[in-house]
Amino acid sequence: MDEFIPMSRPFLDNEEIEAVTEVLKSGWITSGPKAKAFEEAFARYVDAPYALALSSGTAGMHLILKAYDIGAGDEVITPSMTFASTINQIVLAGARPVFADIEYDTLLVRPEKIEKLITRKTRAIIPVHFAGAPADLDAIRDVAGGIPIIEDAAHAIGTYYHGKHIGAKNPAVFSFHPIKNITTAEGGMLTGYDEELMQRIRLLRFHGIERDAWKRYGKASDPGYDITEPGYKYNITDIQAALGIVQMKKLQDINQRRARIAHHYLDQLSDIMGLDLPGMPPYEHLHAWHLFVVKVNSMERRNFMEALAENNVGYGLHFPACHRLDYVQRLFGKTDLPVTEDTAAKIISLPLYPGMNDSQTQRVINVVRGILG
Ligand SMILES: Cc1ncc(COP(=O)(O)O)c(C=O)c1O
Repeated sequence: MDEFIPMSRPFLDNEEIEAVTEVLKSGWITSGPKAKAFEEAFARYVDAPYALALSSGTAGMHLILKAYDIGAGDEVITPSMTFASTINQIVLAGARPVFADIEYDTLLVRPEKIEKLITRKTRAIIPVHFAGAPADLDAIRDVAGGIPIIEDAAHAIGTYYHGKHIGAKNPAVFSFHPIKNITTAEGGMLTGYDEELMQRIRLLRFHGIERDAWKRYGKASDPGYDITEPGYKYNITDIQAALGIVQMKKLQDINQRRARIAHHYLDQLSDIMGLDLPGMPPYEHLHAWHLFVVKVNSMERRNFMEALAENNVGYGLHFPACHRLDYVQRLFGKTDLPVTEDTAAKIISLPLYPGMNDSQTQRVINVVRGILG
């Protein structure tokens, strides 16, 4: 039997091991100088004035919703075709998620669908840069009429829209979960512009305490503090940040490797009837190729997944549609989203990770051809 090809695998080597070891030996392992250096490198890369490193992307979504004071009686528009984490945070804040339908080819939210859903209660719009393709931010801004846009950039490390990196225009939430383009095991980053908003989030990130712990515990420092607003505990550790700093240096290589695999798939799977490949957004962009999501039209997806498994090929499901989740239907009733429903039944993510070599890519192509061709 051929070796198993997983759907994803982090791209780590000795450099990360040494960076983590250095932190472990340093005497300071939680948020400190490495977290700060990671934030600075990330802000520079995205070209955003502020970047806050966090324990997860989910934490970032929680904090930004809190900082906008979104809660009971408010509505937040977002696609249903996303990870449930975002919907959970909207609902846990006490607000109502309002689902906008997507484009079949790109799985990106459609600005004109967002426009139709805006009411006096709409407090934020959360587009998702699905699979690493940018949502049409200019068109979304045009329909938003000043309503804050929060970018779900969990898939978008290395995604550019009209020449600018994602997160350079609106608050944006990135994720460093192991499946993501760069990883810190778990972790996230929130980028933004508004000094006051970002300062509030910085405090909410760590109990509401003004001064960083690593400064309070330094030589001859004042260990006291005051709190003006209670906060959470969403800081990143220096162990994680050390991983992030090394991963940032490798990002260009990582994303080039991802793009190469995606283009092999695009070239060699395009003639298979009954398999729809990811479509490209029609505007200028650079795709981060976080995921390669195909749609299976000619057979039951369940059978397709079984056949991949029999051939030792991994797969993922990004994502079960959120408007169909049990609790969402119970709380908010049914929503009519024809394209989301259609795609949700057909999508499947093929293996895509930077360490995947040409022969592994070719094997996935051959297996898919064998099943569907
Ligand atoms: C679209 C999307 N949003 C948000 C998240 C949440 O990120 P995290 O796992 O870092 O909390 C993820 C991934 O996990 C995601 O895929």
